[in-house]
Amino acid sequence: MINAHGGNLVNRKASPEALQELFVEAEQWPRLYLDDEQLRAVENIAEGLYSPLEGFMDGEDYRQVIENMRLKDGTLWPIPLVMGISKTVGEKFEIGEWITLANLEGKIFAILQISDIYEPELEKEARLVYQTDQVEHPGVAELYRRGEMLLGGKITLLRKIKRKFPNYYLTPYQTRSIFREKKWDKIVAFQTRNPIHRAHEYLQKTALESADGLFISPLTGYTKGDDISAELRIASYNEVLNNYYPTENYVMAIFPVRMHYAGPREAILHAICRQNYGCTHFIVGRDHAGVGNYYDTYAAQEIFADLSEDDLLIKAMCFEYAFYCSKCKQLATTKTCPHLAEDHIYLSGTKVRELLRKGQRPPVEMTRPEVADILINGLTENSKEN
Ligand code: ADX
Repeated sequence: MINAHGGNLVNRKASPEALQELFVEAEQWPRLYLDDEQLRAVENIAEGLYSPLEGFMDGEDYRQVIENMRLKDGTLWPIPLVMGISKTVGEKFEIGEWITLANLEGKIFAILQISDIYEPELEKEARLVYQTDQVEHPGVAELYRRGEMLLGGKITLLRKIKRKFPNYYLTPYQTRSIFREKKWDKIVAFQTRNPIHRAHEYLQKTALESADGLFISPLTGYTKGDDISAELRIASYNEVLNNYYPTENYVMAIFPVRMHYAGPREAILHAICRQNYGCTHFIVGRDHAGVGNYYDTYAAQEIFADLSEDDLLIKAMCFEYAFYCSKCKQLATTKTCPHLAEDHIYLSGTKVRELLRKGQRPPVEMTRPEVADILINGLTENSKEN
């Protein structure tokens, strides 16, 4: 089985023997209150999803990651994993001190030993990680909401958080054990923040033709307001997987991580996490993790070409822009179809969402009717609630 990124899969869960004592101590320590997204990041670290990271980055890792896409020990890492705090909170804490990480109601979930308290370099981070300093970019906007100070330190998880979609939540330890049981060697992972459409299916099934198994990994953390909800994303996958995929050849597990919309750099982060789940290959199509026109269509593929074998073990499996060709009468890319753009059926994500919100199914060549109906119903329910 492929190694975790950096060598070993991290486990930062308190041992059962130490747990009782740690809870008693954690009661006494200063508390930092975290929202659900931050708590999920803490548990993700503890479960090894961000291996080799064992906590939130200190100032040196943060600066190295921004400038060189590497941790201070040289390991490839594309986007800072940081804990934002206010200046007032930052002034109360001291380096070396232990603090307790609690949810907004004060329930204790983890502890952290502070290794650094530092100021971010927001403009530089935006320019280097997101290639823009425009606050209209949803990833850049988040930097400015994150907190004036950042806090670094290793975490230890004391209590599991309640996950959304518990039936589809698997830790890297669990996926690795499933892959082992299935005796899969070549495992190709698919990241998505959208409901499944025919081009996704084409990519997944084409990749599966030359792999032992497919790991479908729909993101369920924060996405920008006009993306379709995680609930509908998962429902659409359920429908299509149950009817059109052989059960024994895929595993689906949620990817409980937020979107950054950082295009190429985020594609690398997505790949690293899938390697930690035990996958050997990672699908990168057009405009991976993109938003608006901030990144070139194939920038997320090109960034992998500059990496060496030592940087990253998981391999990018790249696909050109896929569409339905009415002359070929099948899905294709310009690599496999000789016809003109006017023969290709393709609508942008925005256009598809517009149709769905009006209660209209997109062309069947793009979206399966049963998926269209799930989305139409879900979106109409949603707009009634609002
Ligand atoms: S992403 O933010 O997770 O990248 P999305 O869910 O749309 O967004 O894409 C999932 C994966 O499928 C990405 O690798 C993306 O590049 C790829 N992809 C989506 N649509 C197409 C398409 N029509 N042709 C080729 N690749 C695609």
